[in-house]
Amino acid sequence: MALKKKSKSSTAASAAGSARPKTSGRLRRRHASRVSQDKADAAPASASSAPAPAEASCQSPLQGYADFITGLEKEHRLRRIPSEDAGDRIDMLSNDYLGLAAEADRYLPEFHERFPDARFTSSASRLLSRANRYHSELEDYLGRLYDRPALLLNSGYHANVGIIQALALPGTLFLADKLVHASIIDGLRLSGADFKRFPHNDPKRLHRLIAGLHGAYQRIIIIAEAIYSMDGDMAPLHELVSLKAEYPEVMLYLDEAHSFGVRGPLGLGLAEEFGLIDSFDIIIGTLGKAAASAGAFAVTSPVMKEYLLNTARSFIFSTAISPAQAAWSILMIEKITQLNDRRLHLQRLSRHMVSELSRRLNFESPATTQIVPLIIGDAAEAVLMAGHMAAGGFDALAIRRPTVAAGSERIRFSLNALLSEKDIDRLISLIGRYR
Ligand SMILES: Cc1ncc(COP(=O)(O)O)c(C=O)c1O
Repeated sequence: MALKKKSKSSTAASAAGSARPKTSGRLRRRHASRVSQDKADAAPASASSAPAPAEASCQSPLQGYADFITGLEKEHRLRRIPSEDAGDRIDMLSNDYLGLAAEADRYLPEFHERFPDARFTSSASRLLSRANRYHSELEDYLGRLYDRPALLLNSGYHANVGIIQALALPGTLFLADKLVHASIIDGLRLSGADFKRFPHNDPKRLHRLIAGLHGAYQRIIIIAEAIYSMDGDMAPLHELVSLKAEYPEVMLYLDEAHSFGVRGPLGLGLAEEFGLIDSFDIIIGTLGKAAASAGAFAVTSPVMKEYLLNTARSFIFSTAISPAQAAWSILMIEKITQLNDRRLHLQRLSRHMVSELSRRLNFESPATTQIVPLIIGDAAEAVLMAGHMAAGGFDALAIRRPTVAAGSERIRFSLNALLSEKDIDRLISLIGRYR
């Protein structure tokens, strides 16, 4: 398959199927962006061709699902849960960016000593049971760190789906970056509100959209991710904040799933790093990635916390994370606040990888963070490449449609602070040998 030449331009050209350069090899040297995740996994041809009614009546009702799976397999898109045993391979799959999860055993004695009564179940939604002090302590702790109220949710998925749906009072328009996570898309769909997608990280186009639409809505909520999970680039936070300053009806919603723990002097995220925490109406942090726990939280204003507590269905109608999970999160966040050295090391590793990919392999990556994608541009090739990585001692997964756009299939390397520059150099040599 054809290689793409080093180029900084991204989405548009590749999406439009621009001519591929003449270089040979297997890696695409152009950034092609993640697919709009609103497109559900398109049914493969075999599953989508609906049988005639008479035929359908003699078929097992399961047949359509089996055909769908066969179609995915044919297109090299069948997902499987990787086996548990990674052998000695270096982890580049997980979102354990600080290496806290890898070292969790080290913190267990402290956990048991400090939180001996933390139970493993909440047994009900928080609105339907007596308050548990660990949920409250976690919210209070986050509240002190951000200097704004925090509401605990069961996961990042619950947070985005439940909160976005709740925000959709009549008169609301959502404007979401083209590459936002599936949980945001699902929230937008469930909300039933008007929404539009703006081109990825393009504040000028976003500005034009707002200029054309403002006045027609009571509120316009811009949704972005601080770090994009498949492209490893960052949202233009200052520009988003300027838009809010220019248009009083604009509200800002920021998902810091991949930046909580990783950016900012205390690890609170990119908004902290840029001194912009107070400019965002809602900040989502997740606890299952760098924080080595599970769950999520929203940081917001007192009135919004009260509103969400009464309206976010994923908060109201779901059993809360366990007190033990909340207590473990407190401990992990305490560690996070002290790990600035690891955050800086992680950024150095990322810069090293991106510059060596360019210098040694002539590959231009869009990444400016700990997530470094290697665009392959073909599902079958991406799977082969992942196998090559595994054989060379690195655990990295092929990312395919619908998680990313067709033609931008990739290996997503997720760096963590326990790696060294030597590990990265070995990885790049391994990538180089694949061509
Ligand atoms: C940007 C973003 N938001 C939300 C989520 C969901 O978070 P959780 O895994 O806690 O459900 C993810 C998961 O990868 C994500 O990438």
